[in-house]
Amino acid sequence: MAKIGVFYGSTTGITEEIVAGLKDKFTDYEVDLYNAGAASKEDLANYENIIFASSTWGLGELQDDWAEFIEVVKSTNLSGKKVALLGTGDQNMYPDTFVDAIGIIYNVAVEQGAEIVGTTATDDYDFDDSLAVVDGKFVGLVLDDQNHPELTEEKVAAWTVDLF
Ligand SMILES: Cc1cc2nc3c(=O)[nH]c(=O)nc-3n(C[C@H](O)[C@H](O)[C@H](O)COP(=O)(O)O)c2cc1C
Repeated sequence: MAKIGVFYGSTTGITEEIVAGLKDKFTDYEVDLYNAGAASKEDLANYENIIFASSTWGLGELQDDWAEFIEVVKSTNLSGKKVALLGTGDQNMYPDTFVDAIGIIYNVAVEQGAEIVGTTATDDYDFDDSLAVVDGKFVGLVLDDQNHPELTEEKVAAWTVDLF
């Protein structure tokens, strides 16, 4: 069975709970979850289909576990690999740095040769600025569980259809 490696960082458990739900969505794939704080370069190298998931902390910073794992990604050749990004954030409290973390990860993944899949429209969101917007679209799936928890399930379901 083809497999998907999900590498996530989550401080209060929001992102962790969302990525745990991905196993049920990709019925044709084995989905393996890795906390970014405990994942190795070898773990990453094992997958052709990858999801990088992070919340954003501080003002537009990577989640803590990602602060270390980004160095692993920077030293890994991702050419030939498909990478999808999943970001959680709070557009009301942080409208100028909304889900910046996945913009930071996107730049590194592109630099390392990844093919980015799963960009999404910004239409449903209300924010001023985000590093996660490139060419008018979000670089991945964006979830605001703080303000719109009711949208998470349907957005995840739509995003995971034919993602890889
Ligand atoms: C101190 C603090 C700083 C935050 N900074 C940002 C931010 O800059 N941008 C953003 O979109 N969300 C920000 N958030 C919101 C978190 O990303 C959001 O609560 C997220 O769902 C947490 O997910 P986690 O529990 O998986 O870490 C911040 C939250 C806190 C408490």
